[in-house]
Amino acid sequence: MSLTQKEAWGTRVGLILAMAGNAVGLGNFLRFPVQAVNNGGGAFIIPYLVCFLLMGIPLLWIEWSMGRYGGRTGNHSTPFILDNMTKRAFWKYFGVFGIFTNIAVAAYYCYIESWTMSYVWHSIAGTFNGLSQSEVAQFFKDYVDIGKSHSGLPYEAVIFYVLCLALNTFILSRGLRGVERAAQIGMPLLILFGVFLAVRGLSLGTSGASAEVPNASAWDGLNFLWTPQFDSLSNPKVWLAAAGQIFFTLSVGMGTIHCYAAYVRSKDDIALNAVTSGFTNEFVEVVLGSMIVIPIAAGYLGLDWVKENAGFGMAFQTMPYLFEKWGPFLSAMAGVMWFGLLFFAGITSSLAMGTPWMGFMRDEFGWGRRKGAVTFGLLVLALGLPTVFFYQHGVFDEYDYWAGTVSLVVFALAETILFAWIFGIHKGWDELKRGSDIKLPGVYKFIIKYITPALLTFVFLGSLFTPLGNDWQAAMAGLFSGAGWPLDDSSLVQMVANSGLNKQIAAATDQAQLAKLQDRRFYINLARVLLTLTFLGLCALVYVAGLKRLKGNNTKA
Ligand code: ALA
Repeated sequence: MSLTQKEAWGTRVGLILAMAGNAVGLGNFLRFPVQAVNNGGGAFIIPYLVCFLLMGIPLLWIEWSMGRYGGRTGNHSTPFILDNMTKRAFWKYFGVFGIFTNIAVAAYYCYIESWTMSYVWHSIAGTFNGLSQSEVAQFFKDYVDIGKSHSGLPYEAVIFYVLCLALNTFILSRGLRGVERAAQIGMPLLILFGVFLAVRGLSLGTSGASAEVPNASAWDGLNFLWTPQFDSLSNPKVWLAAAGQIFFTLSVGMGTIHCYAAYVRSKDDIALNAVTSGFTNEFVEVVLGSMIVIPIAAGYLGLDWVKENAGFGMAFQTMPYLFEKWGPFLSAMAGVMWFGLLFFAGITSSLAMGTPWMGFMRDEFGWGRRKGAVTFGLLVLALGLPTVFFYQHGVFDEYDYWAGTVSLVVFALAETILFAWIFGIHKGWDELKRGSDIKLPGVYKFIIKYITPALLTFVFLGSLFTPLGNDWQAAMAGLFSGAGWPLDDSSLVQMVANSGLNKQIAAATDQAQLAKLQDRRFYINLARVLLTLTFLGLCALVYVAGLKRLKGNNTKA
């Protein structure tokens, strides 16, 4: 028996919790509400749910099937899972995405995770007591501006980042049991904390209105999110945002699901497990994710403020200030619950990101768990420190764009084509059905073969060639009248060329602004070099592993 075949999930509940923990993450509580608000609230929900049904569920089924199929032949990471499904050698290099994405996403994801650890500590220590809204916001700005720490702890952000990675490494070094245990503890607590805060958000009503914001109402926040608007169905911008959120939140296109599923026993169900973990994620995202930040912020600051300020930082820059309004005890408790919830959501996802690398090194080079976990921690540290030190210069956002957005779509499109068209939908469907505890709706065979790849192609092309101002109607009209298809600076094509930034540099009027923008360009390019080197390094490892396999002297032989 090979090293790799020894590991398997302890219990079905443990597997589902780990898979749900992989999906439920910071994206559910930080990214979803912001995406929803920025894309018109209720206008976002229908495309989002359609994307879940037509892309999310199919991709979950594809990835679980590929993973368990790979696991049967001793493959626990995507390069050789993909390789195993086709005769063409180049597919294993597509599989590199399934390791690369995880290391690169973990690099910045664990940074946010480390903020949550620090904020739990500050909530208990009462750091935010008596601070004004702008002081709480400034606390965060100083925190990420390394060296300006308010807490008296020098380089606090770095310390918490290293601590966070050490904790991830430690749990990973315990193997699947460690991951399962973390999910068994983290997921129930997360839901408990989430329900408490959601009830608080819901019961706030109009009681948070003040002389400055007389019409503040938590209900306005909820109504905004939950009044569907059908006109958005014809707006590709909203569809792209909805699809992007589905990818990130379900962790599809990443390689973690393949890896987890590779440890499922070959006759055990995957179809129902996949749906259960997917729906658990949706419950947490759509129900809990929408009932905390937005209603609480709208309840005190008004819906207009939320619409203007919706952003990722709201959770750290605004929430501690709002909790203060609940008195010293409840505010400390709410702080611990909110940042604790984010921490559990984060760590159950970042642990998943470590497993493809560990599985790969174990399968191909016979590395033990500890060595795999420690090298993962070190790789993430090396790639992540630039996000910590140069957060203000855009390194963090650059990683998020290439690894957390573009890579997911590229890999999902590739694996769907492989599964449905090369491996073959009939074989794929039989694989999914093997041991299934539910009767699979046959229509999904059609969806997986035609609809999902078509939607993914649309998402990919839409991101590649996003039209100017995201105005698709004008772009279409321009195309037919011969005026071409002017590209937006947010399109992938223009992003590669740094087009938007270059324009800003050309238009800069004073030296200080010019220097800042040039700095930003430097750090963005540095981030790209680091990501490219990581990807190429992994390709080299896959190449060496391929040679080893050819020679037949790998550990699985
Ligand atoms: N799926 C994880 C999240 O939502 C990555 O944060």
